[in-house]
Amino acid sequence: MRMNTDTHIQSYEEAYRLSVENPEQFWMTQAHEIKWDKFPDAILTPQENGHHSWFEGGMLNTSYLALDYHIEQGKGSQTALIYDSPVTDKKEQFTYLQLRDKVAQLAGVLTNLGVGKGDTVIIYMPAIPQAVMAMLACARIGAIHSVVFGGFAAHELAIRIDDAKPKLILSASCGIEFQRVIPYKELLDNALAQARHQVEYSLIYQRDELEIELKAPRDLDWKTELAKAIPADPVSVESNHPLYILYTSGTTGTPKGIVRDNGGHAVALKYSMKYVYGIDPGEVFWAASDVGWVVGHSYIVYAPLIHGATTILFEGKPICTPNAGTFWRVISEYKVKAMFTAPTAIRAIKKEDPNGDYVKQYDLSHFKYQFLAGERCDAATLKWTQDKLNIPVIDHWWQTETSWAMVANMVGYGVKDVKPGSSSLPVCGYNLQIVNNDGEEVDPNQEGFVVVKLPLPPSCLRTVYGNEARFQAGYLERFPGYYFTGDGGYRDEDGYIYITGRIDDVINVAGHRLSTAEIEEVVAHHPAVAECAVIGVNDELRGQKPLAFAVLKNKATSWDAVESEIIQSVRDEVGAIAYLRKVIEVKRLPKTRSGKILRKTMRAIVNNEEYKLPSTIDDPAILGEIKISVEQQIK
Ligand code: COA
Ligand code: AMP
Repeated sequence: MRMNTDTHIQSYEEAYRLSVENPEQFWMTQAHEIKWDKFPDAILTPQENGHHSWFEGGMLNTSYLALDYHIEQGKGSQTALIYDSPVTDKKEQFTYLQLRDKVAQLAGVLTNLGVGKGDTVIIYMPAIPQAVMAMLACARIGAIHSVVFGGFAAHELAIRIDDAKPKLILSASCGIEFQRVIPYKELLDNALAQARHQVEYSLIYQRDELEIELKAPRDLDWKTELAKAIPADPVSVESNHPLYILYTSGTTGTPKGIVRDNGGHAVALKYSMKYVYGIDPGEVFWAASDVGWVVGHSYIVYAPLIHGATTILFEGKPICTPNAGTFWRVISEYKVKAMFTAPTAIRAIKKEDPNGDYVKQYDLSHFKYQFLAGERCDAATLKWTQDKLNIPVIDHWWQTETSWAMVANMVGYGVKDVKPGSSSLPVCGYNLQIVNNDGEEVDPNQEGFVVVKLPLPPSCLRTVYGNEARFQAGYLERFPGYYFTGDGGYRDEDGYIYITGRIDDVINVAGHRLSTAEIEEVVAHHPAVAECAVIGVNDELRGQKPLAFAVLKNKATSWDAVESEIIQSVRDEVGAIAYLRKVIEVKRLPKTRSGKILRKTMRAIVNNEEYKLPSTIDDPAILGEIKISVEQQIK
C-alpha cells in the first residue's frame, strides 16, 4: 500500500493537531522515511485490549536500517560510533562500514551458538563498543536482546535471567567505575548460581583492564569465537516482532520487562531525531547515559544510527573522570550539536565548578542544544545550565515504557519559550491529558494524573514480557481508553506541562529508576526486622534517595549492627546504585485501619511537606513518633 503522503507541515501546532486527529496519516508519512523490506499493509490496528499495534504486515530489519542502509547510500566512510573512555584512557571510532562488519561478524557468532529469530539474549556489559555491537547483532538475526544495567547486583540480574530465559548471555570481564574495577563476570557467575534458568553458553569479552579465567564448557571467549564466525546477513522480521525487552522498576518487587517492537520503534525514533532533537543525518549527537537504560537504547544506539548521525558512547562520569570539564571536552572535541544528560549530572558538575570555569576552556561553537531528562529538573539547575552554556536548555519528559519523549520543546519545529519547571508541550503523537481520580480532565493549573489518550504513538511498549495481565492492570485499566503514565502533573494556561513526580512507589535516584518495594523486600529479609517501609526522600544531588524505616523483632538487638547489615545487603542484592545510606529505627509504623502502611504521609513528614491526616489512619499518635525518630536519627 502506497499513498500520497506529502503534507508540508511547517509548525509544531499544525503537526501536533494532525498527529492526534489523524494519527494514521501522520505516521504513514513518517513510515515512508525508513526503508522497509515490505511496506506495512495497515498503519494502525486496534487490539481487543484497547491498545493498538502499528504497521502490521510490514517487514524490516533494524540492524540493516542502522548500518547497511547508510552504506548503500554511499555513507560507509562516515563515522557511526565514537567511543570515548576517560576511565581507561581509550578512544576509538568506527565508520558505518566498520561497525556493520563487526556487527555482522558478531551476529555470525550468535548464529553459530544456536541463537535465532525470537530467541532472547541477555547483555550484561559496561559502556564499551562491544555492548552496542551486541545489541545490533541480536537485532540483525531477529533475536530479542535484554540489556541489564551493570550497576545492578547479581540478585537483580538473576531475577531478569529467570524472567527473560535467555538462550545466551553476553558479558565482559569488568566495568570501571571511576577508578574501581567492577567484576562483571563474577557478578554474572553469582547471578547464574542464584537463577533457576541456566544458559548453555556465555560469551565473555576480556578487557585489557582485567583478564579473568573462563570456565569451560559454559564460558566462551568473545575474540576466539569471532575469529571462527562467518558474517551474518540481516533477517527480515515482522514490524511487531520484538526488538528488545528492557526491565524497569514498577510498584512491586519484581521488575517488568517492557517489550519493544521493530517497526514502530524505527519510525518513531527516526522522527524524534529531527523533530525532538533537531539533528540532521551526518551531525553528532551525544546521550551521556548507559546502554543499560532506555536512554542508551534509544539515543546512544538506535535513533542516531537509524537517522544516519554520529553517536558517542562515553565511559565516564560527569565529574572526576578526570574533572568537571569532561562533558565540555567531549562536546568540543567531537563537535557535538546536541547532548542529553540527567539533571543530576549537571548538579554534580555545578557543585565542582560553580562558576563554570571549565565551560570557558572549550570551543563549544557547534553545540546548539542541551537536553535534560530522567528526573525533574529543578529551576536552579536549569538556570545554571542556561547561564553557563548560553544555548536552549531543554527539559523533556518520558519513560522506559515509551522509549521517546512524551513532552518536549520540539526544536525541529523551532524552539519555543522555555518555562522553568515545565518540560514544555506534548510531543506529536501523544494526546496527553491531565485527569482527576474519575478520569475527567481537570482545569489548567490543577494537578492530576498524567495520561495519554489511546492510541499511543509508535514505539511505545507492546506489553509486559510474559505478563499481559500486568500490562493491562498497570497501564490500561485505571483509566479506560487511556495509558496511565504513573506520573502526576498539571498543564498551565499556555498548555505547558509540569510533571510533579510519581504517584506510586517508584523513585528516581541520580537518574536511576528504582522501586521502593524492591528495596523493601531486601530490608524485610533481615532476620532482626519485624516490619519495614522504604520511601523516597529529596536529595540535593541525586534528586531522591531511599530511606528505610524498620521495626525490630527484638528490642535488645544492637541497632548499629542491624543498620549496617541492612545497608550492605541492599548494596549486595539490588546494587550500589540503590544508594540506601540510612535506616531509621521506629517502634511502629503508621497504618490505615486495614493495615496498609501510610508511605505517602511518611514521605511528607520526612520531606517537611504539608499533609492531611488520613481519615483511615489507625492511630494518629504514631505520626508524631515518626517525626521525632526522623529528627533524632537524621539531623
Ligand atoms: N556499575 C557498577 N556500579 C555503579 C554503576 C555501574 N554502571 N553506576 C553507579 N554505580 C555505583 C557507583 O560507583 C556508586 O558506588 P559507591 O557507593 O561504591 O560509591 C553507587 O553506584 C552510587 O552511584 P551514583 O548514585 O551514580 O553516585 P556517584 O557518586 O558514583 O555519581 C553522579 C554521582 C551524579 C556523577 C552520577 O550519579 C551520574 O553521573 N548520574 C547521571 C546518571 C545518568 O546519566 N542516568 C541516565 C538516565 S538519563
Ligand atoms: P525511566 O523509565 O527510568 O526513564 O524513568 C521514567 C520516570 O522518570 C518518569 O515516569 C518520571 O517520573 C521521571 N522523569 C523522567 N524524565 C522526567 C522529567 N523531564 N521531569 C520529571 N520527571 C521525569
